[in-house]
Amino acid sequence: MQSLQEKASEWSGVDPNDAFAIDQINLYQKLGLQTFINLSTNFYNRVYDDEEEWFRSIFANSKKEDAIQNQYEFFVQRMGGPPLYSQRRGHPALIGRHRPFPVTHQAAERWLHHMQQALDNTTDIDSDSKIKMMNFFRHTAFFLVAGNELKNQKQSIACKHAASKPAAV
Ligand code: HEM
Repeated sequence: MQSLQEKASEWSGVDPNDAFAIDQINLYQKLGLQTFINLSTNFYNRVYDDEEEWFRSIFANSKKEDAIQNQYEFFVQRMGGPPLYSQRRGHPALIGRHRPFPVTHQAAERWLHHMQQALDNTTDIDSDSKIKMMNFFRHTAFFLVAGNELKNQKQSIACKHAASKPAAV
């Protein structure tokens, strides 16, 4: 059976070496905290204003300010900076934390669309950093899609068992 990482590589079209090229350079040192804050603010402004209601509604139960902070603290921590995210929230456990949300292929593409726009509209991000970040985001997004499909499979297996029980009289 294909691992989640293998599915992520196949669906995203991003080789793991490219996805984790963010580890060959310290992007936090290169870009600085404020750039990460600006990037996540730009991203979530787009998400919360999305004309596609189906996508915007995925975030309906989260406060925009919290979503921004959760995201930039995670990016800072993952890209060579201090562990701001884990100090406040614990282990990132991204698949588990996305469990409540419908992380489909379509949702991943929409998330990535907004992230590409946000990267292109945030000042002081050079093109090499943009490419490295986007490869990491793309691979991670489809890793989450693979995790989401596993969750749905487990649920459908559980349903099958329940359905095969003799009907109550
Ligand atoms: C694939 C499409 C994705 C969807 C639909 C999605 C959706 C969401 C939603 C609805 C939240 C809750 C907002 C909040 O309260 O923080 C969230 C949180 C988060 N997402 Fe995603 N996300 C996606 C991809 C990603 C990717 C690619 C990353 C990382 C590269 C990521 C990292 C995070 C982090 C760190 C949080 C905060 C988790 C927490 O502390 O509770 N997400 N996401």
